[in-house]
Amino acid sequence: MASVLEVEAVTAGYAGVPIIHDFSFALAPGSITTLIGGNGAGKSTLMRAIYGACQQFSGSVKLLGQAIDQLPPWERYKRGIGFVPQGRCNFPRMTVWENLKLGCYILEARQHDAALQRVLAMFPMLQAKLKEKAGNLSGGEQQILETAMVLLTEPKLLLLDEPSLGLSPKTQAEVFAIARSIAASGVTILVVEQNVHGALLISDTAIVLEMGRKFLEGPAAAVMNDPRIQNAYLGGNISEETV
Ligand SMILES: Nc1ncnc2c1ncn2[C@@H]1O[C@H](COP(=O)(O)OP(=O)(O)OP(=O)(O)O)[C@@H](O)[C@H]1O
Ligand SMILES: [Mg+2]
Repeated sequence: MASVLEVEAVTAGYAGVPIIHDFSFALAPGSITTLIGGNGAGKSTLMRAIYGACQQFSGSVKLLGQAIDQLPPWERYKRGIGFVPQGRCNFPRMTVWENLKLGCYILEARQHDAALQRVLAMFPMLQAKLKEKAGNLSGGEQQILETAMVLLTEPKLLLLDEPSLGLSPKTQAEVFAIARSIAASGVTILVVEQNVHGALLISDTAIVLEMGRKFLEGPAAAVMNDPRIQNAYLGGNISEETV
């Protein structure tokens, strides 16, 4: 089946300075891909390049076969790219419910109720805190709220930058399970995770970045068993079978 996203030879960065160099990959429909790389490798910048939130110097980005390079982030959002950036980024003085209502803004009014019910069923934690000010949620909970706001619009491609940061192990497992079920419904997911092992377990594919360049790409299981990845990102616990 045709790729949902095609990134071809993209060089991107900030203020005229390239951070991502000559980067190419494609994402298959309904797949989960983990982006792996050390701090400052350019993972967030690559996500911003896909969303149009940094400078693209060359190359092309296509969504469902159509070039989107020239489009600003909100046009990419309307076309089906949902981006949940790293860190807390919602409206802290508004309640959880008000944030979610805000997330419905590109939907028609008659679609709001069904979208809100669908997303609240996915994240019972939010249901329990609807009247709470978003700023009083933990960092991890705020990230879940932000993800829920993006999911209200049923994106075709979901970009998740560190979705489980600051979550308890139990909630991390819930977030991973939700990611799997979202992908099973046909949404394509690109995720950056500090929990590399957990992310690889739910991923189909993995891409490893080093200093803004693609270092390795392959099936998640193969990348997980690669001794270089084991040593650098998985604590070096290479089992006998994988050496
Ligand atoms: N808004 C910005 N303006 C200028 N330089 C930036 C900006 N954001 C990031 N950078 C630089 O781009 C490089 C890559 O940063 P990026 O945030 O993409 O890395 P990352 O892989 O997501 O790291 P981390 O794991 O710490 O989140 C770094 O050298 C960083 O200083
Ligand atoms: Mg980052």
